[in-house]
Amino acid sequence: MSFPGSVSETTSPQVSQLAQNCWYAVASGFALQKGPISVPFAGHDLVLFPDAEGRPRLFSDRCPHRGASLALGHMEAGCLRCPFHGWKFAADGTCLEAPAEPAGSSPPARSSLVGERPVIESRGFVWMWWGPDPPDPSLLPELPLFPAADWSHVESSFDWETHFSRVIESNLDNSHAYWVHKGTFASQDSPLSIPVDLRKEDRMIAATVSFELPVKGALKLLRSVMGQSGPLCATTTFSFYYPNLNIVDTSIGDQLRFVFFNASLPQSDSHTVARWVKYSKRKRFRLPGSATKSVAISRTIFEEDHGVVRSQRPTPVPLDLTEERHVASDILSIEFRRMHRRWLSEEPLATMARPEALGS
Ligand code: FES
Ligand SMILES: [Fe+2]
Repeated sequence: MSFPGSVSETTSPQVSQLAQNCWYAVASGFALQKGPISVPFAGHDLVLFPDAEGRPRLFSDRCPHRGASLALGHMEAGCLRCPFHGWKFAADGTCLEAPAEPAGSSPPARSSLVGERPVIESRGFVWMWWGPDPPDPSLLPELPLFPAADWSHVESSFDWETHFSRVIESNLDNSHAYWVHKGTFASQDSPLSIPVDLRKEDRMIAATVSFELPVKGALKLLRSVMGQSGPLCATTTFSFYYPNLNIVDTSIGDQLRFVFFNASLPQSDSHTVARWVKYSKRKRFRLPGSATKSVAISRTIFEEDHGVVRSQRPTPVPLDLTEERHVASDILSIEFRRMHRRWLSEEPLATMARPEALGS
């Protein structure tokens, strides 16, 4: 497999702990097909769009004419049209038309798009290669496949005032729910559960928790449809695929399942753009509410997280495990820090500190 485009400026002066030579999830496959869309990444403004076959292309988001954002433009049969004066670009970046030129003349010199980066669509996401080495398709994360055809989905984005590593950890942390989300989906009455079934691979970690949901509103209706009278139990599996994709997969009985994907796009040590997709699988029961309402519920939950997560200091997570205290429920955050440190330093795991709570 070969990729067009060159890779330059792969380090970033404004984002700490930015791993190189890996694939970052930058947009959903749904968003790509609606393209063009902007991809802000570590101080770079990029534009993503589909070619005539629907394959992703990624360039610097600056029109060579007057610097307008091409993400504001539109697609015409696999070509990208600038929103300002209508210059038209082929999928390889070549300028095909500069409409205000006299009839019959060619576009001016150096009118092609620049800054192309290797990009590929795989398993529902668009992935950008970031690093000086040639792109390596074998490093694409192997996300689980979902039968999206009969699942509904919504997607949106959320701006975090913190470093991407804190956003990733907030999506790996279950024990905050009882304190931060008690107004939405969590109950302080149910016992706190410790993640179990920890799975660790070179670039993936996952674990599962079970918990009780407060039975109110739509969940009351669900419980009666399920023919239950006691507490509603949910099971959530938290997964993370290095370097920037979280999956939070929640089932409530066999009636409801939500699978939330969150791609954290690093911007600076105090800014992360999260692009998320939430899939819903519903059996013989449909909760009332529209896609707009579903997005609004997720936003409310993110705002609850954000109120606390943006206060954490330092903004990048400490990679020295002795710098913060750890307990058993932090197992996924600890494993993330180990994985992250290993990728950033290639330091052998054996030399890294062990959290006291977890023993040797
Ligand atoms: S700025 Fe794009 S055509 Fe003028
Ligand atoms: Fe949360």
